[in-house]
Parts: sequence; C-alpha cells; structure tokens
Amino acid sequence: MKKPTVIAPSILSADFADLGAEVRAIDEGGCDWIHFDVMDGSFVPPITIGDNVCKAIRPHTDKPIDVHLMVMHPETQIEAFAKAGADYITVHQEVSIHLERTLQFIRSLGKKAGVSLNPATPVSTIRHVLHCVDLVLLMSVNPGYGGQKYIHAVTDKIREARAMLDEAGCDARLEVDGGVNAETIAEVAAAGADTFVAGSAVYGKPDYAAAIAELRALADNA
Ligand code: DX5
Ligand code: ZN
Repeated sequence: MKKPTVIAPSILSADFADLGAEVRAIDEGGCDWIHFDVMDGSFVPPITIGDNVCKAIRPHTDKPIDVHLMVMHPETQIEAFAKAGADYITVHQEVSIHLERTLQFIRSLGKKAGVSLNPATPVSTIRHVLHCVDLVLLMSVNPGYGGQKYIHAVTDKIREARAMLDEAGCDARLEVDGGVNAETIAEVAAAGADTFVAGSAVYGKPDYAAAIAELRALADNA
C-alpha cells in the first residue's frame, strides 16, 4: 500500500547563520522531516555540517531528522549522529564495504537505517540487504550541491526500486533527493517514490509553508 507522502526540506539551502530559526520555520510550515546533508570534502567536494550541528538543531523541532551521510567511511559517524538525536541515518552504498553490518549497526542503536545510491549505481547493489533497510535514498543529481537539475534518467530507476521493494515485501520508504521541485515532483511520485527531499524548492522560496503545501499536493495527486 502507498505510504503517506513525506516532504523533507534540506537545510543545506537554509541560512546557516540562523539555523535554529530556519528549522523552526519549516517545522511550523508543515514539513514532515528535516533532511540533514553531511558532506566531508572527500566523498563530495564541499564540507557542510556534522553531528554537533545536528545536536544544536535537535531542540528546535520534534520532527524526524533525516541524516544523509555523504562521507567516506560513514560507519565512523553513526554513533555520533545517533547521540546527536538523528532519527534516520543513511549511508552511501558506494563507500560501505560491509553494508549489511553498517545497516544493522544503525538499527542496533535504535535508529532507522537508510542506504543511498548515486545516479550511476544500480538498484541491484542493495537487493541483498533489504532485510535491514528502513529507507532507500535514490540520488537524482550527483551529490554535493543544492540547486542542481533533476536527472530524468533516474525516473526509470525509481520504478525499478519500487518494483524491487514491492517484490521483496520490503516496507522501506523510497526517498528521492536532488532537483525535486514543483516541475519534477509529480514525475518522481508517479514512478513510486513516497519521500521527497527539497532544498532550493523550499528554502529558495519566500513562503516555506506554501512551497511545502504545493509539493505535497503535487505528489499526492500524481
Ligand atoms: C545534494 C544533497 C541534497 C540537496 C538537494 O547533494 O544531498 O539533499 O540539498 O537540493 P535541491 O533540492 O536544491 O536539489
Ligand atoms: Zn541529501
């Protein structure tokens, strides 16, 4: 059965000098989750924010914090983010040598375990870990920057992932990240995604609540 839509604005596009207020604004604006992009200057060129910032924003919202680790050796960050109040912790398949162990470790800390795939990484690479996955995060841009264009070739991949999850009886959420906006979200939702990251499509707009409501309506009606 289709899951309720989750809209997860990415604070990557927020004003970092005023992050507490920016988190409260999307919370009050009706978002479902807070998407938290961690970049290490190695897996991707930029460096963003770490577990100390997660801890700092935690008191500003009761909504789930969805940590997306775009870092090498993600297993070294998991405990710190669990302590900092993350709810979902997502690692990239491409840099997780012992992926099953890493996902089980996230779950052992009482957190939801996510696995992410770059646009070029096949869906089949996660087929054998679905028994310990709560979230599949498909990148629809090459990670590293907000405000990039949605790669339409990923739409087929979303369909493939949807079919794989359904066939396996896997209850994981299917999240899409990168270039999701009012022009693209219906295509993403129709392909089978239920969870939508939106950075510039929320924080780039003057009225966050209106932007979130518009995205939700487009996804629900797709
Ligand atoms: C990109 C990040 C995304 C980014 C999305 O590497 O993982 O979460 O913030 O930004 P938009 O929605 O602007 O493409
Ligand atoms: Zn992200």
